[in-house]
This record gives sequence, C-alpha cells and structure tokens, in this order.
Amino acid sequence: MKKNISVGLLGLGTVGTGVFQLIEKHQEELVHKLGCGVSIKSILVCDLEKAREVAVNPTYLTTNPEDVINHPEIDVIIEVMGGIDETRQHILKALKARKHVVTANKDLMALHGTELQKAAYQNGCDLFYEASVAGGIPIVRGIADGLVSDRIQKVMGIVNGTTNYILTKMDDERVSYQDALKEAQELGFAEADPTADVGGLDAARKMAILARLAFSTSVDLEDVEVCGIENVALKDLQLGKQLGLTMKLVGFTHFQDGQVEVSVEPTFLSNVHPLASVKNENNAVYVNGEAVGETMFYGPGAGGLPTATAIMSDVVAVIKNMLLDISGRQFIPPRFEKVLKTPDQRGGNYYFRLHVEDKVDTFTSISAIFNHLAIGIERILQTPGDEIVVVTHEATLEKVRNVITRLQEADVVKDVKSYFRIEGVVRK
Ligand SMILES: NC(=O)c1ccc[n+]([C@@H]2O[C@H](COP(=O)([O-])OP(=O)(O)OC[C@H]3O[C@@H](n4cnc5c(N)ncnc54)[C@H](OP(=O)(O)O)[C@@H]3O)[C@@H](O)[C@H]2O)c1
Repeated sequence: MKKNISVGLLGLGTVGTGVFQLIEKHQEELVHKLGCGVSIKSILVCDLEKAREVAVNPTYLTTNPEDVINHPEIDVIIEVMGGIDETRQHILKALKARKHVVTANKDLMALHGTELQKAAYQNGCDLFYEASVAGGIPIVRGIADGLVSDRIQKVMGIVNGTTNYILTKMDDERVSYQDALKEAQELGFAEADPTADVGGLDAARKMAILARLAFSTSVDLEDVEVCGIENVALKDLQLGKQLGLTMKLVGFTHFQDGQVEVSVEPTFLSNVHPLASVKNENNAVYVNGEAVGETMFYGPGAGGLPTATAIMSDVVAVIKNMLLDISGRQFIPPRFEKVLKTPDQRGGNYYFRLHVEDKVDTFTSISAIFNHLAIGIERILQTPGDEIVVVTHEATLEKVRNVITRLQEADVVKDVKSYFRIEGVVRK
C-alpha cells in the first residue's frame, strides 16, 4: 500500500488555498482515516509572481498545465481554476492520462458533466464534484449515497449565497435591492459583475446538476427556466410579510410520472417552510423523498475552507477507491429519458400585485378575470397607492400566463407590477 498519495492542483485561488490549508492542517486526520498521507506535488496558476496566502514551495508552482496533468507521481487532479472550455480540455487530458479528477466547477459540470463522467468511466477513473453545488454542504453525496435507495420527488434549493444575502437584507432591514447588492459587493459576497448570481444563472447550473443526480435523467442547463431577483421590489417583501411569506431565490425541481421540471425563480415561501429560515449568505437544499420524507441540508455555500472540505471528501473517496481497486465505477447512465413538463403540467399558488383604477367595480372585474380562467382566489388584499394583491389557489403556469395577458388588457388594471409563485400555506 502506498504511504502517500500525491495530488495536483489546477488553481490556487480562494478554494485552492483552502484545499492547500486543509491538506496541511488536517494531515493527521487524513492519515488516520486513509492509512496514508496526502501531499500536493504541483500547482497550476496564472501568475507565478503573485503573493500567496500560504507558504507554498515555489518550485511546485507552474503555468504549464502539462506539469500537473502528466506529473508521473500525481494520481489525483483537483480542478479549482474555474472556466469552461480550457478547463474541460485539461480534465479530459487528465482522465486520458488515468488521473482521477475532483472538481468544484459547477459551470463546467452543468454544461459538460455527462461527457466528463463518461470519459472518466471509459478511462477507469473517478470524477467527483461535491463542491460544485452548495460549497461546504454535502448535498451531492447526500443524494447519491445517503438517499440512494429512495425515490426523490422534489428538490428545492437556496443555492446562491449572494442572492440570499441581498434578499435577507431587503427583508430584515428594508434596504433597496441596489443598496443590498452594493453592501454584498463591499463584503465580498457578490462579484464586481454580479449578473450570473442575481440573474439566477449560477443557481440554474447547480439545479441542473442536482436534477440530473436526483432523478437520473439528463437535464441540461437550457432546460432550467430562470428568473433572477433584479426586479424584486421591497414592497413585495413587505406585503409578503403580511401574508406570512418570505421571499427567496429558489431552485425547484420536481419529478412525477416520468416528467421533470426545473426552475430558478424568486419564490414566496411560507414562513413555516424549512427554507424560509435560511438567512444571509447561507445555502440549504431541501429534499423530499418518497420513503425518507422531508430532509434539509444546511450550511455555508461558498468560501475557501468550507468548499475545501467538500473537495477533500471527494479526494478521500477517490483514494479509498484506489486503495480498494474499485476506481472508475461511479458513472451510472441516466435511467429515464428526459421528458420536460409543459406549462399546463406545472404550476402552484401565485401572488399578483396589481396597480389598479380606484373604481367601485375594480374588485369585481378582477375577480371575474380570474374566475373566467377557473383560477380560484384565496385572498385579496388592498394596499395603499391603488394597488391590490391577489393570492390564488393552485393554478397551472399556462393559466397564470393567460391571466397576466388578460389583466394587462383590462381597463381596471393599470399595470401588473409583479407575480411570484408561492410554496406553502398563506396566513389567513
Ligand atoms: N469561491 C468559492 O467560494 C467557490 C465555492 C464553490 C465552488 N467554487 C468553484 O471553484 C472554482 C475556483 O473558484 P475560486 O473562487 O477559488 O477562483 P479564484 O479565486 O479566481 O482562483 C482561480 C485560480 O485558478 C488560477 N487560474 C485561473 N485560470 C487559469 C488559467 N487559465 N491557467 C492557469 N491558472 C489559472 C488562478 O491563478 P492565479 O492565482 O495566478 O491568478 C487562481 O489561482 C470555480 O470553478 C468556482 O466556481 C468556488
């Protein structure tokens, strides 16, 4: 048995540094659990001169990917450089060179995960990606191993810390979206260009990965319906409070009768829903299984050390497989052909905020529009400034889209200010 397993890092940024620190500081734990040590032998970076937070042997740093990928002593490549096309090439090369790969890269896994997993299988290698979804939360292994025997029906996730931080600030401190975003950027919770986070793309990538895993069907990124939080108004959050609802950017995926839906959208959660209490930059994934019922995985969705723990759990799994000589058997082809639900098969309860004419028959006219499409109304709330809120019973997405068109055409409606899906019960 090897006394030591050598790994190579592609990247030494936030996460790579966390991995470096964890391998240094937790060596005893690794030796105890694996029966061998783990050491870093080579690290790919962009800039050899950059000051590093960790005391790295300068001879280990390289700008040539081949030095890591084809290093004769390295068995495991840890990809923490980010990016898509170049990184995909590095990983394919590494797998061809019979190196096992651990990656934190959701962008890459959402777009090319199936291809890379097949390549790993064909080369007898492991490819693990725990850190690609929800940072330090062990959700990938939780679904793949912990709930392996169950039939998962629904996965809902707060999988983007930036948007959760912004919505928490707006909700708790009544600050505007722009001010909350600015504060998130100052504190390092949001990128200088926050588009992928606030627009929902980052969460969509993670939900595509989770949907694939939970339902054994080949969901692609373009199958995820995405709406970001840019247009969430403070007013909606305040009105939601009156109804016992909290706004979150929720990734939602549901599987029923062989059909799947995946979406990311600002959603009103009933205050008693487990996800409603997830605040600030934290992440959580709620999984509902036929046998297990409700479960929730909660924790830090990003950060160097939390994400490094997820990576090291993969590294340990890879090494255990190497020691048992069972590497490369993880890839399970999708069980179900992908069939996406249509808008008449999707839906839920909805919240509408309407700017209306201040007339005696306004309520009656609006009720008639909903009634005409057989959408039941659970509550109507009058708000200051000629606005009303309508909360519906369950309606299909198709009907919701139709009702919006009719509301926009109605004389008594000046504007459909907003509409959001509701998950759970509204306060009476
Ligand atoms: N940050 C998080 O909390 C977090 C959480 C979960 C998942 N992830 C994922 O983890 C990955 C890494 O994220 P990060 O935040 O650690 O990124 P980062 O801080 O920007 O670090 C990237 C590292 O990769 C190196 N690098 C980038 N492009 C390269 C290239 N073309 N050639 C050689 N080296 C290159 C950089 O070198 P230099 O240091 O020389 O610039 C740097 O060391 C991403 O896929 C990200 O989505 C991050």
